[in-house]
Order: sequence, then C-alpha cells, then structure tokens
Amino acid sequence: MYFKQFLDERCGCASYLIASRQSHEAAIIDPSIAIEEYETLLAQRGFHLRYAIDTHIHADHVSGARRLVAKHGGDLCLHEAAQVAYPFRPLHDGEELALGQLRLRVLHTPGHRPELVSILVVNPERSPEPSMVLTGDSLLVGDVGRPDFGGGDAAAQYESLTRLLRLPDWVAVFPGHFEGPCGKGMCGRPSTTIGFERLFNPLARLERIPFIDHLSEAVPARPLNISAIEATNRGLVDRPWAMLASNPAVDEISLDELESRDPDAILLDVREPVEYASGHVPGAVNLPQADLADRLDELPRDHPVFLICQGGYRSLRAAQFLKQMGFAQVLSVAGGTAAWAEAGKPLGRGEVDDRATRVIETEWAHAGGSTP
Ligand SMILES: [Fe+2]
Repeated sequence: MYFKQFLDERCGCASYLIASRQSHEAAIIDPSIAIEEYETLLAQRGFHLRYAIDTHIHADHVSGARRLVAKHGGDLCLHEAAQVAYPFRPLHDGEELALGQLRLRVLHTPGHRPELVSILVVNPERSPEPSMVLTGDSLLVGDVGRPDFGGGDAAAQYESLTRLLRLPDWVAVFPGHFEGPCGKGMCGRPSTTIGFERLFNPLARLERIPFIDHLSEAVPARPLNISAIEATNRGLVDRPWAMLASNPAVDEISLDELESRDPDAILLDVREPVEYASGHVPGAVNLPQADLADRLDELPRDHPVFLICQGGYRSLRAAQFLKQMGFAQVLSVAGGTAAWAEAGKPLGRGEVDDRATRVIETEWAHAGGSTP
C-alpha cells in the first residue's frame, strides 16, 4: 500500500493519494484543481489513476477530479445523492471499490452536506478491519464540518459522527481540512484517531440536542467565493480561478485615512448582509465575500477599491483575491467596522439590497461620483 496526504496551505484543505504497490492502481481523494503534484507523483511511482473521488461537493476549493479523469482516465466518483451537471460513478453506502489488494469502503456520512461520504481503507492482507478513514468534512480533528454551507443538516451530522465514532479506536482519521472556515474549532493537526476523538473531541461528548444547538448557533460568515466555487464544482459554471491561489501583498489604510478618502474610491463591505444591516461605515456598499467572484463585473476596475469587514481578516483575503484578478488599486481597512464603532464614529444601519450594482450606483450617486 502507498499513502500520501497533501496539505494545501492556501485553503486549509487536505487531499490524498492511495495506491496499491501490487497493481499500481491509484485513487485520489478530494483533489485540488492544481493537479500537477498528483500527476508528478503518479508518474514518479508508475501509478495509474483508477478513481478520483470527491467526498462531497466542495464549497471552499475547486475540485480537480474532473480534470484528473479527463487526462488520466479512471472513474469520477461521488455519492449517489450528489447533484451535479456531469456524469459520474455513483457511490452507495457500504459499497467497496477494489484498488489492487486494497478495498475502499464507502460510508455515507451526511451532515456537512447531504452527499458526503467517508472512505474506509481496508488492506485485507494485513487485517479484515479498516486501518484508516478519510472523513472529508464530517469528522475533523477536534471538530465536525459546519452544516450551514447549504444543504447541510446538524441532526444528520450527529448521526454521522455517532456512526464514525463506533469504529475501532485504532482507526486513523484523515480529514478533508486541517484549518480554514469549514470547522469552527479544528485543532490544526492533520490527522487523529477514532479513539482520541471519541475521548477528546468536545462535540463527541454532547448529547443529540445540545450537539444540534451547538451547530445551529449564529451563522458565521460564508467563505470567500463560495458561490462561484460550489457552482463550478457542480458543473454549472466554469470559474476555476475563483480560488484564492496566491498571496499578494495588500496595504492597509487607517480609519483616519478612510474618513478622508478620495471620493472616487469605492468602499466595499464584504460581510454578510445581516452584519452590514446591523451597522456599517457610512458610504460602504455591501458585497459579501461569498459572492465576490460571481459579481466581479459589478466592480469598477478604474477606481480605488477599499475593502472592509468586521475585524480586518475577510477584507484582507478579499483584497488579495481582487489583486489576483488584476485590480490594481485595492486596500484593506485595518481593524474593520469593529474598530470604527469602537472609535465612536457614526454607523449607517438598515437592510441592504442584495444586488451590489444597485447599491453601488445609489451610494455612488450620494457620494457625488459618476456611475461606474
Ligand atoms: Fe466541505
């Protein structure tokens, strides 16, 4: 058996290559759109691709599964419940995929998403029992995957966690994330064991109702470009560039500089509409980071764009993405709306139309600018 974990520092995602050293067949699980490193390994080791498996339709990174299968053959696998616009091999709960002498056993573990599967790895020559489980975004190290990315279900997540924690203690757990927005309390380690999580994962100790209540708590921000990434992974649009794949330097501006900003500048609040409505810097227009890639055309490229969020993290990442997409004049507001409010400066309030164009045009007119 051959096994390798790939950790993508840009999005906190983990992907995996499993192969039989006997048959030289390989399976790649949750591949990133940057498929070159898998290809290099396949070539170096003389492996050929048998399966590309997405444990679920990802919302935080663009999958490379279709690209891999198109170039190298093999089956593109998703759970039978997956709603996508391209053909795939449907996986069923309890099914076993042969990979040389190895067996990849499918375990349907919905919750984060309805079609999420975990993959149990069995090497019958060593043991009839599984030695490891790839859990996607069901069981994470110290956490479980959030159910609020669309289509998720906290009660189903409870059942799936319970099912996974019935596995033997020794089973090594390799999740789909080691950091990032998919779990609120991940510990950062890239793997764990069932036994450790059963004892020390704080969610494993919760009864059903407190578990559901915990996962249903105030919805945090949706990740950067989630709309475009998910639609791309469903085959509905083709925006592989929607991932933040670079780390460009972004300058920050202070609150004083923000107050005396060039009237030509657009101030873009990338928080969720409910956050924006509860208090925003006057003149800021709302375009949630989740929808940024889908709505790039609404932003003028020939004006400075200042980005603001709650504390400065989302605006920084959104600004990096805009730079990646060729926007030249992009700045992030240090400290965000929270610092603005703490400084006692006035806040605008109220609902926001979810179409930024209309808001931008309105606010633009108020600010005395010409329509972008
Ligand atoms: Fe996910």
